[in-house]
Amino acid sequence: MRKKIVAGNWKMNNDLSETEILLRELKNKIIPDAVSVMVAPTFVNLQTAVQLLEGTEIGVAAQNMYFEEKGAFTGEVSMSMLKGIGVDTVILGHSERRSIFGETNTIIAKKVQAAVNNEMTVIFCFGEELKDRQSGSHFEVVKEQLDTGVFTLFEPAWKNVILAYEPVWAIGTGVTASPEQAQEMHGFIRKAIAERYTNELAENVSILYGGSVKPNNAKEIFNQPDVDGGLIGGAALNADDFMAIVNAF
Ligand code: PGA
Repeated sequence: MRKKIVAGNWKMNNDLSETEILLRELKNKIIPDAVSVMVAPTFVNLQTAVQLLEGTEIGVAAQNMYFEEKGAFTGEVSMSMLKGIGVDTVILGHSERRSIFGETNTIIAKKVQAAVNNEMTVIFCFGEELKDRQSGSHFEVVKEQLDTGVFTLFEPAWKNVILAYEPVWAIGTGVTASPEQAQEMHGFIRKAIAERYTNELAENVSILYGGSVKPNNAKEIFNQPDVDGGLIGGAALNADDFMAIVNAF
């Protein structure tokens, strides 16, 4: 049975004291057994997050990493640096990394490969832009992102892969995909995995939806048969909102 997952992508929000406040609030909440919950604060606060959440059911993920192990890569962070502080999950391919920081499918593929080779869990993000949906090429765009980003992986590596479908037009905009649109794309993604690999693998991959998930729309999105949870941006910055989403299954 695939896992239900809710992950909070804090993006470039929350300084040290704000991070501590939010984590202390989250620590006091009860996490349902059936849901795996994690938060992704900024790099500089990851170690604090790991320490503060020790002994809780809440995991900590990084928002990015570089694919090389070490060396002259000014400003970058390696897998061993993350693992060294107890972080073994990383978000890769987020649309903001793609559009603002110029990460291509090829760069993201290298990061994904490096991460799974090092037994890190990857939350692989992908999704079409508004123009793609308007022109009807959204399935093609998503398939291309999957082909280059994760369909090159050998089957065993998939035990460390979580997918996050995030239509770019829904991220931070307040416009969410309808439950039907989410299900249609998640069903397409699961079928593509089954065609590339096996039905069994496809059935076991958690596919999260991301893009303006809020307490008032999480339930109907999470109720869709191929939606296994969410990657949450804005609403993850408020403990009550985030926990309402965690409890929306
Ligand atoms: P949002 O962000 O929930 O604020 O739309 C989602 C994301 O970027 O992962």
